[in-house]
Amino acid sequence: MKIAILGYGTVGSGCAEALKGSSAELVRVLDKREIPEIAHLLTDDYETILKDPDIELVAELMGGEHPAYDFVKEALLAGKHVVTANKQMLSHHFSELTKLAEEKGVCLGYSATAGGGIPWLENLKRYSRVDSIKEIGGVMNGTTNFILDAMQTRGESYDDALKKAQELGYAEADPTADVMGYDVRAKLAISCNLAFGGELDPESIPTTGITGITDETIKCAKESGMSVRLVAKAYMENGNIKAEIAPQLVGQDDPMYMLKGPENLFYLKGERCGTLSFRGAGAGKGPTGANVAADILKIIDRKEQNA
Ligand code: HSE
Repeated sequence: MKIAILGYGTVGSGCAEALKGSSAELVRVLDKREIPEIAHLLTDDYETILKDPDIELVAELMGGEHPAYDFVKEALLAGKHVVTANKQMLSHHFSELTKLAEEKGVCLGYSATAGGGIPWLENLKRYSRVDSIKEIGGVMNGTTNFILDAMQTRGESYDDALKKAQELGYAEADPTADVMGYDVRAKLAISCNLAFGGELDPESIPTTGITGITDETIKCAKESGMSVRLVAKAYMENGNIKAEIAPQLVGQDDPMYMLKGPENLFYLKGERCGTLSFRGAGAGKGPTGANVAADILKIIDRKEQNA
């Protein structure tokens, strides 16, 4: 299948690398920058992709709400499959875009919008179809876990650790979204939509980030044998979703205590399946690019099976 990638940043280039030698043929890349290794694929005009009937799938990996939302919507309307890693955009347009994909008979893949390389949403969707999900949660941001881990285990300063997380490609273009918890908010909202149905407004989730965590906080946590984690949690109460994101102290018997660097841990509690947890690299070029690539190949497999 011929595909196009919108945005050749950390995730876009990671996805292209993961797809090498596969049945996905990358024929166009939308990016305004000069990128010598893919110069022959580059365009800065989205219309050339949209109007090309040979391109059957568009991978939106550019981030930001606009024009990403418009591009995704136009691609779906044009009958193209779409894969996106854009949690901010998807969390604000989840119902509309998932319904539109269904109406047009095309696929909308979004596994990498939460969890980097962890197949979290894929599994949450799988279990929510056969079980009643009571609670979901976990550590959902690689950058903030990297910072907290660096402060706790290596005594690094908040600023140095954040700088490293940016250099390693974990942080968003504007890391405010990571440290203020807005990135987790979008991931938790999308997860709630799958777990509990409907569309949760990310802005309605009470959110505290890690900007208030000081060396003193870390020292106190260590002295009491605990670690600080940015924890997200959501559950149903009297027919309403209760969701919250805030830094918490976790003890050594909690699986979140052990998370290293950019690791994430997502869990679900189901009436039938009990507690299931998913741990791994929550950010970064390799893991996130592979998760996007896996969505793309799944769509190609489905098309081949239906052929
Ligand atoms: N900035 C995000 C994080 C990337 O640090 O978790 C993955 O969603």
